[in-house]
Amino acid sequence: MGLEQELNELLEVEKFEPSAEFRAGALLSDPSVYAEASADPEAWWLRQATELLDWVQEPSQGLDASNPPFYKWFADGRLNASANCLDRHVEAGLGDRVAYHWRGEEGEERDVTYAQLLADVKRFANALKGIGIGKGDVVGIYLPMIPEVVVAMLACARIGAVHNVVFGGFSAEAVRERMEFSEAKALITVDGARRKGKTAPIKAPVDEQMGDLASLETIVVVRHTGIDCPMQEGRDRFYDELLEAADPECPPEPLDAEDPLFILYTSGSTAKPKGILHTTGGYMTGVTATHRYVFDIKPESDVYWCAADVGWVTGHSYIVYGPLSNGVTSVMWEGAPDYPHKGVWWENVARYKATILYAAPTAIRTFIKWGAEIPAEHDLSSLRLLGSVGEPINPKAWLWYHKVIGGERCPIVDTWWQTETGAIMITPLPGITATKPGSATTPFPGVGAEVMGESDGELIENGKGLLVLTRPWPSMLRTLYREEERFVETYFSKFGRETYLVGDAARRDEDGYFWVIGRSDDAVNVSGHLLSTAEVESAIVHHEKVAEAAVIGQSDEDTGQAICAFVTLVADVEPSDELVEEVRAEVAEHIGKLARPKRVIWADDLPKTRSGKIMRRLLRDIAEGRAMGDVTTLRDPAVMEELERKVAARRDEEG
Ligand code: WT7
Repeated sequence: MGLEQELNELLEVEKFEPSAEFRAGALLSDPSVYAEASADPEAWWLRQATELLDWVQEPSQGLDASNPPFYKWFADGRLNASANCLDRHVEAGLGDRVAYHWRGEEGEERDVTYAQLLADVKRFANALKGIGIGKGDVVGIYLPMIPEVVVAMLACARIGAVHNVVFGGFSAEAVRERMEFSEAKALITVDGARRKGKTAPIKAPVDEQMGDLASLETIVVVRHTGIDCPMQEGRDRFYDELLEAADPECPPEPLDAEDPLFILYTSGSTAKPKGILHTTGGYMTGVTATHRYVFDIKPESDVYWCAADVGWVTGHSYIVYGPLSNGVTSVMWEGAPDYPHKGVWWENVARYKATILYAAPTAIRTFIKWGAEIPAEHDLSSLRLLGSVGEPINPKAWLWYHKVIGGERCPIVDTWWQTETGAIMITPLPGITATKPGSATTPFPGVGAEVMGESDGELIENGKGLLVLTRPWPSMLRTLYREEERFVETYFSKFGRETYLVGDAARRDEDGYFWVIGRSDDAVNVSGHLLSTAEVESAIVHHEKVAEAAVIGQSDEDTGQAICAFVTLVADVEPSDELVEEVRAEVAEHIGKLARPKRVIWADDLPKTRSGKIMRRLLRDIAEGRAMGDVTTLRDPAVMEELERKVAARRDEEG
């Protein structure tokens, strides 16, 4: 029987129960944990906090809900995140355990132990103090997937500085913007970054953007590629020199549970990114508990690989804080999935005998395209658990992952969460939950999720609506950095101050399982990366020949959604292929290559209401080839006919 046919047969299976063997060895296998947590969520979370973390002063209380939506957790507790990630394991005699098996693009390897990581973090924390960084100061981090990124994050955490990591795939201009919004005092970056055998300068373009930023006092440069790198006297320092000169001793600063740990910018419905603020005690509780129980972590024997980038929240929570807090060994891969060859992920799994793999559906769909023969050339028998994150996983991709990668023996945890939630919210527990391909299943113990009617806010037991979280949870965002009103408005205005509006549409089935459909707002999810249509539009209109742009997400076989831009040009400019490339380059410059539109459709005009608002809903309808919704409010209905023709023509061209 061929693979295709086998997958089709598996499509008939409604539920996948955990095997008796997996259940027998799982940390959690008794479903009573759900009832226990929901009977008293606050007490349950408090127990996680005190059982799983080391506190300088243990918290006496869980939740402070005196001023919704400004919730506090474990408010009288004191702790340090870096001490929980490093010191406690080294003190327990586990200093020689590998924290990261790092592997570089060209096959270089570095095993970094907990003790080595701690030594570097202490030195770099002192170096940060030496350049004037103290508690509450914001430090930008713009680094590729190298161990130094972890050192930089934890050194900040050690002294109470607030890191603000920017994904390496964003442009220098996007970095500048995020440094400006957060008034960062220092930026830690790199000479250059490698991607598929090529080296690109990073520090040089950063310099071009950062020149006049008043708040930024120091730029620290990690030497990684040896590429030419301008250094500005008095402002710029080399990481290795700072480390070398620094005092090796640096006790962790005891911080309040509610002291900020980091800011991470994410796309919103306006062009301005939202600075999601996470604090120390609640975040550490959320990521430690979810990482431990969702991935069933056995720190003595597991080799865990989260194949995300540290620049996203997945990396923060499940490459850095969760795994280190749990004291497990991780794999850290610098590169792309197809360099030096398309089997490199599977080579990594076999080489380090990875037991757990956490990846995005977009990667899985790519592997499906490349063919099952490629993973088949490698020994994947060490794997015992698989995870998925970032976007809905279609049942076919789930089943392929289950069969081809998991050899039908590994439970799959499809984990739903967001930058804002800090930690996994809806997910199977692998020793308890029967999974259904495509569903993230049910809320993690202690988490309250519901689906609500869009217009009336009625609870929907079985059907579609808006996903909401009905109870505060420890790792929730505390605010949008310096935008308190926007925080309340975005998340706590539609259904009141006690109901968190997620921004996703979801369906609940007859078993109460959640099926996340996608965003209900103007965000587009490309390969698991959220982008704001407004931000892309504003990048496009920077082009001098562009008059106006409307951007939508269009379903896409490879990337989940793809960006489609409808663009009108200024008078007397003719559309051309070069202009398409210029528009794409404009987006790459302002945001990053990942935000470049896959399709640019030249429009003579855009569909607008009489008051001049662009009706993106109609553009989405034609892009998906759906019957068009109500057009009666349009100023000029003829605009839509013209665009529909163009979209249909494009579809024919692309076959
Ligand atoms: C949005 C959050 C979660 C960390 C990475 C993305 C979508 C995320 C799933 C999933 C369906 C998912 C949602 C969510 N999403 N995980 N398992 N199934 N959709 O973090 O950039 O803040 O994006 O990603 O739409 O709201 P993010």
